[in-house]
Amino acid sequence: MSETPLVSVIMGSKSDWSGVMEKCAAILREFGVPYECRVLSAHRTPAELAEYIKEKEAQGVEVYIGAAGGAAHLPGVIAAHTLRPVLGVPIESASLKGLDSLLSIAQMPAGIPVGTLAIGAAGAANAGLLAVAMLANQRPDLRDKLARYRKERADKILAETLE
Ligand code: RP5
Repeated sequence: MSETPLVSVIMGSKSDWSGVMEKCAAILREFGVPYECRVLSAHRTPAELAEYIKEKEAQGVEVYIGAAGGAAHLPGVIAAHTLRPVLGVPIESASLKGLDSLLSIAQMPAGIPVGTLAIGAAGAANAGLLAVAMLANQRPDLRDKLARYRKERADKILAETLE
């Protein structure tokens, strides 16, 4: 998106995108929220990550979403560099199916919080929706869109018949 981003989505590897973090971007697009996606790693590119967050702070990003797998310290490191809310998406890992990622992101010691979502695609989509809900606190148009989104899903369930 070319507008100044309100949400910054940072993933530890390009491998986190396909089938997972693309779901987060799709939600932000659907709601018309300006966002930016970047691949930056807490351990592979630590200096560039810190520099990038500094730049986004100056631009006025309001919510950060960090996605990582394995020893997934990326969302915690993002949170260390900002007072804005940080949401963490645990990526499913090959060896432990994302349980390692989930615990790494969820078990932040008290003081620097990361809001942790579900492992994988569901968590990615919900991170997008939670970011929208946070932005909607001050933006009635987004609040209306969120209400419509929920209603559409409720109507679909109510219209379903088994026989
Ligand atoms: C993490 O390591 C990334 O977020 C990714 O989920 C995982 C594996 O990365 P690649 O080896 O696929 O680049 O830092």
